Parts: sequence; C-alpha cells; structure tokens
Amino acid sequence: MYRYIDADLYCEGISLRDIAEAYGAPLYVYSASLIRERAGQLTRALSDIDDLLIAYSVKVNNNLTLLKMMTELSFGADIISAGELYKYLKAGGDPRKAVFAGVAKSREELVYALTHGVFMINAESIPEIIRINDVAKERGVIAPVGVRINPDVEARTHAKITTGRRGVKFGISVQNLLTSAEMLKQLKNIDIIGVDVHIGSQILSPEPFLAAMSAIAGVTAELRKEGFNIRAADLGGGFGIPYNKKDRPFDFNRYKAAATPILKAMGTKIILEPGRFLVGESGVLLLKVEYIKSEWGKTFVITNGGMNDYIRSAMYDAYNEFYPLTLRDGSITCDIVGTVCETSDIFAAERKISTVEEGDYIALMDAGAYGFSMASRYNARPLAAEVLVDGDNVKLIRRRENLDDLTDTDG
Ligand SMILES: Cc1ncc(COP(=O)(O)O)c(C=O)c1O
Repeated sequence: MYRYIDADLYCEGISLRDIAEAYGAPLYVYSASLIRERAGQLTRALSDIDDLLIAYSVKVNNNLTLLKMMTELSFGADIISAGELYKYLKAGGDPRKAVFAGVAKSREELVYALTHGVFMINAESIPEIIRINDVAKERGVIAPVGVRINPDVEARTHAKITTGRRGVKFGISVQNLLTSAEMLKQLKNIDIIGVDVHIGSQILSPEPFLAAMSAIAGVTAELRKEGFNIRAADLGGGFGIPYNKKDRPFDFNRYKAAATPILKAMGTKIILEPGRFLVGESGVLLLKVEYIKSEWGKTFVITNGGMNDYIRSAMYDAYNEFYPLTLRDGSITCDIVGTVCETSDIFAAERKISTVEEGDYIALMDAGAYGFSMASRYNARPLAAEVLVDGDNVKLIRRRENLDDLTDTDG
C-alpha cells in the first residue's frame, strides 16, 4: 500500500507529501486497506478452527477509528486496563468478546470488567484469582476466569518483549497452578473456564507458538483431570512483521499446517490476541527534516519528531526503514535523530538513505504498532495527529494537540 509513483511516496491513492503538507508533521498515517488485508490473512490462517475469537490487542494502537474497524471485522479485544475496555466499548465493541489480562488489576478494574460482562478475566497470579473471587462474591456473580500460565518457553525475540520465560512477572507457573488446584476448587464465585498464554511479541517463526500450544494443551488436560471445565484456550498475540525488508515475513502456511491439528484437538474455543501484525505495517510516522548537521565526520538528519512520538527505537533498539517522501538523486549515510533532549533519541544510526534536504519529509515505516499508543508529552511536546487513508480518501482520526492541551488537567 506504500509505494513510489515516480519520485513520490504514496499511501494507497494519495501522495504522502500532500498529506504532510495538509496535516503537518510529526504525523501518523495508517492505510485502511493494509489493515483489512492483514486481517484477511490472519483469518484465512485460522479458517479451519470452528469456535474462534480474534481479540485485537488494544494496547498496540487504541485509536477509536481503528478500534471501530476491528469491531466491524467482528474482532473482539485483548484489554489490559479499564481504560482500554472503556475505549473498546466506546468504539462499539462487544464486551462478551473481550479478554482482560494484566498483572495488577485493581478491585475497581475488576468491578468494571464484571459489570460490563467481559468474556474472561485472564488472571496472572494466585492472589489475583482470590481477589477476583472476593469481588465477584461481593457483587453476587460468578466471574469467568482464565489462568495465564507462564510456560517457560523461548520466544526468540527481544528480551524486553519476551513474556513467557521463568523469572518474569507474567503468568502463573504450571507447578504453582497445579499445587493450588485444591484451594482454587473452594472458590465458589469463580468459574475457571480457560487457560491463557502470551509468550511475547515480534515472533517471526511458528515454533515458539507451537511450544506454547503444547504447554497449554498439557495444562488443560491436567486441569480437566482435576475437574475444571476448561472451554477456552487463549494463545495470546505475538505474530511478527518484517521491519527490516531483508527479514522474511511470518510463514502462515507453515503455521496453519502445524497449529490447526493441535488447536482442534484442544476441544475448546480458541482465542488469539494479535496486535502488531494487524496494524504495524499499515502505519508510518511522517517526520520533517529540520536541520542537517555535520559534526565528528558524521551527518545528522535532525527531524521534528522524537522518542516521545515513537519510543521503540530508544527502548528496544528497534529497526525501521526510512523512506523520503520525495526521492532526490544520490544517497547519504546519516544518523536520523529526534528533537528530544536525550542521546537515546535516535531513530537510526549510520543509515544509508536517499538524499534529503532541510524541509523535506521522511517516513519512518511500519510505525502502526506500539507507536502512537506509547507516545508521551515528554519535553512538553503536544501529541501528534493521526490520519487514516482509504483508497483516495484521507480522514483526520485524531487532531494534533496544541499548547493549551498541555495544561488540560491544570498541571
Ligand atoms: C497479553 C497480550 N496479548 C497480546 C499482545 C499483543 O502482542 P502482539 O502485538 O505481538 O501481537 C500483548 C503484547 O505484548 C500482550 O501483552
């Protein structure tokens, strides 16, 4: 959906330079067609599963318009806070398709989730299960619970986005869960309906998922032996995308062939919580080149965006491709940096890109996931705007913040 026509970079039918000139920079642009295409790809990979819930992971990008798109695709939601449930409901989402994860759910959040009737609360610890039981008892209801296990499998991804290894805060170890089984049976206001796992993000091969599926199948069998009526298996998210155009995309054919028999044999509803795969490649962050500076024998392309707009480079050493919106002759090797007052505010080091000049725009590619949703106002920088392109149409889906917004909570 992003391609050059002559020297200009287009998103679907519209020149990105026209968009940047109309809406300014930094600016998030999303391609609606690409989101629909990725949704179709994923749905096809899971087409042999009868009882399937795709629960879009709201944390990845919670723009209301994108959430509405997800609900129109009949997707549910993986939520992590009352705020995410609130936004999902505002977008017309069905609470009965929402699963609620997170290690620190407060009583208030549990009440909120129970009041709205979420499908399953994925508990991340034994104390949390006890709390869910208490809250449900106070309200005279039975809470549907999924137990998030930590299967201790290697996700083959960045350490900071690995969540299913021993020693991290997520999930319950299988051993602890099984030794707690007798106690859990005494809790009369919960119904343990599911088992859940999420081993990490940006996973580019099927094997770690298959390992997690085996773990979850084993736990399901053990829990059933104990008398729990397990009806749902939540496999979490994690499908990766090729940020570096030299990377191979996730092989859904291989995944489908290997995963389908395991998932069918579970005899449960199957839930997946994809995020990055659905929206990552659809988004770009447009940046304006403010200065080009030469020092220390290097060239710095200084943009008007920063780590407050897009933190993945600083936080995870993430790689993104950079494409100028208008191609000029020649190329330069440069550090592409932001405006924030931190040395770590660097998007790319020693990167060869097509020549740019002061005032040009460049696109940080594949910025749709964990981009705007992780943005902050650090350095008192108002949040960027977001637009959605669909064919030849472009729509503002979040206005750019102004200086007044910086004091909107009187602080
Ligand atoms: C519980 C849970 N589910 C789903 C996701 C979405 O992961 P991804 O964007 O890699 O699909 C995350 C994010 O790491 C998560 O924590």
